Amino acid sequence: MQPSHLNPPIGSTIEDIDTPCLLLDLDIFEANVRQISDYCSSHGLAWRPHAKSHKCPDIAHKIISAGAIGLTCAKLGEAEVMAEAGIRDLLIANPLASPIKVRRLAALREVADPIVLVDHADHVGILAASLPPSRPVRVLIEIDIGMNRCGVQPGGPAVTLAQLIAATPALEFAGIMGYEGHLLMVEDPTEKQQRIAASIGLLAETKLALDESGIPCPIVSAGGTGSFEITALQPGLTELQAGGGIFMDLLYRELCHVDCLDYALTILAAVTSRPAADRAIIDAGRKTMNQEMHIPEIKGRDDLRIKGLSAEHGVLEVTSGPGPRIGEKIQIIPGYGDFTTVLHDRFYCLRNGRLEAIWPLTARGRLD
Ligand SMILES: Cc1ncc(COP(=O)(O)O)c(C=O)c1O
Repeated sequence: MQPSHLNPPIGSTIEDIDTPCLLLDLDIFEANVRQISDYCSSHGLAWRPHAKSHKCPDIAHKIISAGAIGLTCAKLGEAEVMAEAGIRDLLIANPLASPIKVRRLAALREVADPIVLVDHADHVGILAASLPPSRPVRVLIEIDIGMNRCGVQPGGPAVTLAQLIAATPALEFAGIMGYEGHLLMVEDPTEKQQRIAASIGLLAETKLALDESGIPCPIVSAGGTGSFEITALQPGLTELQAGGGIFMDLLYRELCHVDCLDYALTILAAVTSRPAADRAIIDAGRKTMNQEMHIPEIKGRDDLRIKGLSAEHGVLEVTSGPGPRIGEKIQIIPGYGDFTTVLHDRFYCLRNGRLEAIWPLTARGRLD
């Protein structure tokens, strides 16, 4: 049974919510969702946002009602949770490389319309060995557009793989995808724009090669939050995967220079100790927030900065004035939302400072 303090009454204020926890400002969240959704539609693109940053079926349903066509999922387990919540169009953006996974995919296909990713003929063999031909599964080929992670080379090698997929009865070739993740933090805006154009251009070239070989390629998918405004302008794409921008964080703002979205997600923490005039300790450390991509910052407080995090303590420097009192609550903007949300079980959703809903991260821990 859940302790009752984890479920404060709807209408509670921040003072009635225990710490540390994740807060989601619904007005800002909804504005971010609208911003990305409208940007996609005004550029003729579908939106298939990544769910890895929220892992939350309630959020998935909100985003789909705002115009998303489905979800991108990092893992099969994430897709299984979303399918259980009634979402059908699910791209699993990680190759499935074992019979056990493919058997799970076959079960998922009974209740949803998943898309899987391949970048090698061996993936096709593994899929074909355990999928019934009666209900073909859609397949995208991942193209390496410069990230040097997964992906077959653009052009000829992708066409050869597409021919193999098209000839496999249990599979339906649905298109290609790439991820320009290596370019999100290019500092100079002109260089960023040019390198993204070249990178996404490899997808457009590959689609052309497929067209010329007589293989229809309905989906061309790419795009992260850190580059979505530039990526959406590139010819040849049919959809964008940007997801984490619904929350926004310091990585996207400070390192990727995304200015059109606002901070919807914060960490609520409480000051637990004031051992020195220039030091305050909070009940939120590395097990509450992540500092790998960018150090988190205190919201609306010029007098405080995070000096260091240990497992369950955060050490704040009081840079001016008296600083916070013991028991005072503070909000922290995450360095990277994606690595922060997965440390928590639920989002406490506020509107105008009042608790409106509590949404569980049901797919948290589904790394399988
Ligand atoms: C395949 C893929 N697409 C898109 C993204 C972008 O996700 P987000 O918009 O949440 O940063 C990622 C991030 O890791 C990814 O791996």
